[in-house]
Amino acid sequence: MEIMVILSQEHPELPSAELKSVLRSEGIEFSLIEDGRGYVILDAPSSTWKILKGRLAYAHEICRVMGYSTTGGIEGTAEKIDWKSHIKGSFAVRIKKLRGEVDARELERGLGAIIKNKTGARVDLENPWTLVRPVLIDDRFILTLRLAEISKDHFNKARPHRRPFFYPGSMSPKLARCMVNLAGVRSGDRLLDPFCGTGGILIEAGLMDVRVMGADIDWRMVEGTRKNLQHYGITDFEVIRSDARDLRLEGGVDAIVTDPPYGISASTAGERSEKLYREFLNSAYSNLKEDGVICMAAPHYIDLEGLIDDRFTVREKYSMRMHRSLTRIIRVIETV
Ligand SMILES: C[S@@+](CC[C@H](N)C(=O)[O-])C[C@H]1O[C@@H](n2cnc3c(N)ncnc32)[C@H](O)[C@@H]1O
Repeated sequence: MEIMVILSQEHPELPSAELKSVLRSEGIEFSLIEDGRGYVILDAPSSTWKILKGRLAYAHEICRVMGYSTTGGIEGTAEKIDWKSHIKGSFAVRIKKLRGEVDARELERGLGAIIKNKTGARVDLENPWTLVRPVLIDDRFILTLRLAEISKDHFNKARPHRRPFFYPGSMSPKLARCMVNLAGVRSGDRLLDPFCGTGGILIEAGLMDVRVMGADIDWRMVEGTRKNLQHYGITDFEVIRSDARDLRLEGGVDAIVTDPPYGISASTAGERSEKLYREFLNSAYSNLKEDGVICMAAPHYIDLEGLIDDRFTVREKYSMRMHRSLTRIIRVIETV
């Protein structure tokens, strides 16, 4: 089935990277048809959309592709599509403009009439069973049916200040989820955040049924993270007080996803942070299973490539500007 994922445009690369990483880690066989700005079209088994719906952070909608047309040829293309096999109850047509301009109202009415004629289905603009979603991209339309919308509700409710335990400096739940996805874990895997703070990363991983383990040097964070995890109904976790550099875990973990402290400011060249990061990477190496992956955030002024020795290789790297003086670099690091 051809599936179109409408991505968030909050970042130029992360949404598409996150999507591909989820497809790979879930073992989904897919071929990429288009990897465009703000969307991806792929050929994948029909059950794929349910998995994507449950995992993606930087995506808005998942749709089934029914046809392709030029802007002017959309009604002609719609006439040729077998809508009857796909539209059972009521329907509505709502155009999504990714880029470009058309008279959406008029086209929606025209398409509605064609589909009603071919299916006999009822138009319900308020609460349709099926949403016909033509997506406008410059001078063409991808005609789709919406399969799912990624709920914004969770990312709102999981905002750091809405959790039982809050401490400044927490990461946004969207970025936390995206980092967990970039690490390529799946349900049942073991994930460690050795600088867990308020547990933002562990919450997102735990909600995907990943077995989570956290550590923090500060007792308040350890207790707060436990409280936060319980609040989201996550029960399979272990959170301990430890220096990240002293952790020795039995059996190892599949992934380490973390946002270490930034330490001192850029003006002192991150001297102390670099020591902490180097020692953390040493302990990370001994706690990762073979093929284990680290996904970590670091401030732009830390030269992580300079700290990484030949046991590691940086597979992916993305920058995210936070404010004038801080850009976060997200890296996916593999062991060699
Ligand atoms: C940037 S915060 C992590 C924020 C977290 N991602 C969240 O969403 O809440 C870094 C955390 O590292 C902890 N920390 C600092 N040095 C540490 C060390 N050597 N070992 C373990 N934790 C440490 C701090 O107490 C702090 O909670």
